[in-house]
Amino acid sequence: MTNRIGFIGGGNMAASLIGGIVSQGDIDAKQLWVFEPNVEKAHSLAQQFGINVAKHNAELISNSDIVVMAVKPQVLQQVLTPLALEFKAQQPLIVSVVAGITASSIEKWLDGHFAIVRVMPNTPALVGMGACGLYANERVNKLQRDATSKLCNTVGISAWVTSEKDIDSVTALSGSGPANFLLFIQGLIEAAEAAGLSSDTAKALAVQTAAGAAKLISASDTPLQTLIDNVTSPNGTTEKALQSFEQAKLKNVIADAFEAARTRSKELAKELG
Ligand SMILES: NC(=O)c1ccc[n+]([C@@H]2O[C@H](COP(=O)([O-])OP(=O)(O)OC[C@H]3O[C@@H](n4cnc5c(N)ncnc54)[C@H](OP(=O)(O)O)[C@@H]3O)[C@@H](O)[C@H]2O)c1
Repeated sequence: MTNRIGFIGGGNMAASLIGGIVSQGDIDAKQLWVFEPNVEKAHSLAQQFGINVAKHNAELISNSDIVVMAVKPQVLQQVLTPLALEFKAQQPLIVSVVAGITASSIEKWLDGHFAIVRVMPNTPALVGMGACGLYANERVNKLQRDATSKLCNTVGISAWVTSEKDIDSVTALSGSGPANFLLFIQGLIEAAEAAGLSSDTAKALAVQTAAGAAKLISASDTPLQTLIDNVTSPNGTTEKALQSFEQAKLKNVIADAFEAARTRSKELAKELG
């Protein structure tokens, strides 16, 4: 399998993936194609990254071994349906980053069977710190799986799930996840400001603390509870904060929020598919 990759849709997610692939350098920018109805946006991608702009989606498909679907969920059906013949003739790997649309909906709209990988990316992909959950249908082979992991790893890390319904959990965990952490950091900043710290100081310390905590987890195999215990002295300040979280049943609040996002992901799949 060669590595010609076409992006149907040249918006935020496509731009971050294209940027990641080009900066990694393994794939020549001349192997990349985009079709995007907003001509200015398409030419700006071409100028910034040196990729090819297709005149239409059919031209893009005939030049791609991997076609990345990067349009909004609401328009995917109307984008795919007129392209069924081109997809059948070319048989590319279809990589869909479109939230909430199942592989079987894509096959239904294309009226055939295809190798499809669903990718649930997240916005930190824009700064090379993305976390992608991946699901492959049974028609995807090992080379295609490896190519998709490689594509996602140019903008962060990726992890495979074995069942398509697990994509709803991935959506709740990492897809919607950045907002959860941002909210927590915002809460800490506001509390520090209320106690008299300047906004700049509160933000700088809160953001670095969040990044440092994440690094502590990823830098070793130490269990999370041990890392927490290591910074909690008996009757110290951290212990008081943790007791306050426990009284407010913070873990229940987190579990409820996760479940609400997972449920909405399932509903969206029904509404859009
Ligand atoms: N951004 C994220 O963090 C994120 C996270 C997880 C999943 N996703 C998924 O990624 C997908 C893309 O999101 P995004 O944020 O990149 O959206 P976006 O910025 O709106 O990009 C979508 C692009 O598709 C273009 N488009 C519309 N019709 C088209 C057609 N017929 N052929 C080719 N391109 C067409 C749109 O052009 P016009 O603007 O001219 O209509 C737009 O530029 C969505 O399905 C979303 O669910 C995104």
